[in-house]
Amino acid sequence: MDLGLKDKVAIITGTGSQIGFGKAIALALAKEGCDIMGVDVDGEGAEQTAAEVRSLGRKAIGLKVDITNRAEVDAAVKKALAEFKKIDILVNNAGMDPGWVPFIEMDLDNLRKAMDVNLYGGMNMVQAIAPHMISRKYGKIVNFSGGQGGPNTTSYSTSKGAVDSWSEVLAKELVPLGVIVNTFLPPPAKTKLGADHLPPNFADRVSKMMPLGRLCTPAEVGSMIAYMVSDTNSYMVGQYIKL
Ligand SMILES: NC(=O)c1ccc[n+]([C@@H]2O[C@H](COP(=O)([O-])OP(=O)(O)OC[C@H]3O[C@@H](n4cnc5c(N)ncnc54)[C@H](O)[C@@H]3O)[C@@H](O)[C@H]2O)c1
Repeated sequence: MDLGLKDKVAIITGTGSQIGFGKAIALALAKEGCDIMGVDVDGEGAEQTAAEVRSLGRKAIGLKVDITNRAEVDAAVKKALAEFKKIDILVNNAGMDPGWVPFIEMDLDNLRKAMDVNLYGGMNMVQAIAPHMISRKYGKIVNFSGGQGGPNTTSYSTSKGAVDSWSEVLAKELVPLGVIVNTFLPPPAKTKLGADHLPPNFADRVSKMMPLGRLCTPAEVGSMIAYMVSDTNSYMVGQYIKL
């Protein structure tokens, strides 16, 4: 199936991790013919991903950007428009988990860190890019949710719950202006996220609970996002897609 993504331009956040979803999304979209700007606090990683995209024959920029910093976000968007002349797709993938702690012992700074990146970072990206999309009456945005409700995960859970609510509202506000917003909850995968504090056998235990008896690969998320942001996927608006 031709997804119709040839010559579209995508900005993807969180492409620095070499084992994360952001890089896999960049490669999946590039294989479908997109040009890519990947942004990450890990500038070297973002550039490494961009180099792999270029080796697939598409244009790519990898940039060190902290999405919690609106001035850095604005500068990145300006650069993307100067280079590519348009932005068709935004994948708000960057995220962090500040660590698991029982709520009654939790310092509120733990929650602030998660809100800053997972919610306000994504909001910065949308506020910087949506006006351009609205001016063209075209745009596809996917916001990344995350697993919620486990004990000791107040910060991550709350920040991702907030993303879900915001994304639902955003979809209704932007659809009359020509911009399509959906939310995506990836299944558990072995990425950098949480690797510093998850129990050693966590991945094995979770694998056994998955319907296919294994974790998903970042490439499987890449394919799903390529479909979600394509024009082939022409009737999905404001949906919460959970793999
Ligand atoms: N891995 C999982 O099991 C899982 C499950 C559900 C949801 N998610 C979500 O998937 C998304 C991608 O995470 P991942 O699993 O690929 O993890 P990852 O840690 O491998 O990648 C996340 C990337 O986001 C970047 N980032 C963090 N803070 C940033 C900031 N302020 N500005 C710019 N970039 C920043 C990191 O540097 C990193 O490269 C996240 O939103 C995460 O919450 C992951």
